[in-house]
Amino acid sequence: MTIKARKFVLRNRPQGLPKTSDFELVEEEISENLEDGGIKLFKCNTSKNSDIFGITEILCKAEWLSVDPYMRLVANNLQLGEMMPGVQVARVIKSRSPEYEEGSKVVGLFGWRDTTKCNPSLHTEIEYLYPLPDMKSLPESYAIGSVGRVGNTAYFGLLDVGCPQPGETVVVSAAAGAVGSLVGQIAKLKGCKVVGFAGSDEKVDFLLNDLGFENAFNYKTVNVPDALVKAAPKGVDVYFDNVGGEFAFHVTQKMNQGGRIALCGAISSYNRDASQPAMIPFDYTKMIYNNIKLEGLHVLRWKHRWFEGINQIRDWILEGKIVVRETVTEGFENMPEAFIRLLKGSNIGKEVVKC
Ligand SMILES: NC(=O)c1ccc[n+]([C@@H]2O[C@H](COP(=O)([O-])OP(=O)(O)OC[C@H]3O[C@@H](n4cnc5c(N)ncnc54)[C@H](OP(=O)(O)O)[C@@H]3O)[C@@H](O)[C@H]2O)c1
Repeated sequence: MTIKARKFVLRNRPQGLPKTSDFELVEEEISENLEDGGIKLFKCNTSKNSDIFGITEILCKAEWLSVDPYMRLVANNLQLGEMMPGVQVARVIKSRSPEYEEGSKVVGLFGWRDTTKCNPSLHTEIEYLYPLPDMKSLPESYAIGSVGRVGNTAYFGLLDVGCPQPGETVVVSAAAGAVGSLVGQIAKLKGCKVVGFAGSDEKVDFLLNDLGFENAFNYKTVNVPDALVKAAPKGVDVYFDNVGGEFAFHVTQKMNQGGRIALCGAISSYNRDASQPAMIPFDYTKMIYNNIKLEGLHVLRWKHRWFEGINQIRDWILEGKIVVRETVTEGFENMPEAFIRLLKGSNIGKEVVKC
């Protein structure tokens, strides 16, 4: 018996903002038989192998898929015809694995595909596969957002790299997005004053009225240095940078002595010509004399503390201390549209696709 799986592969190398025609929906037949060993999905290092662990395959159906900015960078390096990467929440529809029972849910880096067969014993690292965490009463889609990678990026990135102290001023860019909206709210929980920048008046309204940011601005319509002077008259202590580019330069110019810059993302450059590095102005003397720490962060740095982060965010949401918003696109076939919408900034909160 076989089952039809659908997946999106890269058809054309995107130039600038991707187009739906850069992606192709293709079908493949997957045997429903769960074989010995199974398919290794990724070029990952693992100490375990199928010879040792034998028959443990699972067959999964996607329920919620994530689209994320990093996929734009991946699209520069994939071979044409290769599947787009990405995490999803999926239901185990058939299993020979004692760890993943039929009917249970998983969080898996399965890519842009609606049906997946894999051998869990080949994908034991947290970035590839784990059972759906205990979501308590929260929607399962949060497991690919606030109670998943996105939550941990905000949690560890702000607390371990930004190190915000009560009374300090924290600036966050892409503030109404998945990571940014959590960063601002965690900073508030830590007793900081938060200044958010986002790309529409609707997003600014969301930040001020739904999330309770002290200050929020539409960076497309204000003069950013003037807005910073107004909202952070004593200067900026922590900048959580999601966008890079000229915007980041303006914020770094306002950093206080001992300020920290958490380099999380540079989305303003992701649609640029990939052969050229994204250059931004950099005021060396300002950074040196103000003893400013500039530190890149990638969420997998904290994979050994994965469930500490997501359980804390989950509990803050349940306690009403953190508000989560999602922008939901219906239908697996609309993955490219959802991805493009994200890159255009049409989302508020986490952009997810319901399969
Ligand atoms: N380091 C890590 O481990 C890690 C993990 C997850 C995410 N990230 C990074 O974190 C950032 C946010 O990711 P996310 O998943 O939370 O996405 P998101 O903020 O939910 O969505 C992306 C947002 O970026 C903004 N944007 C798009 N083009 C822009 C441009 N040219 N200039 C300024 N802003 C632009 C848009 O909001 P506006 O309307 O406000 O422009 C858009 O809504 C990205 O840079 C991403 O790569 C890093």
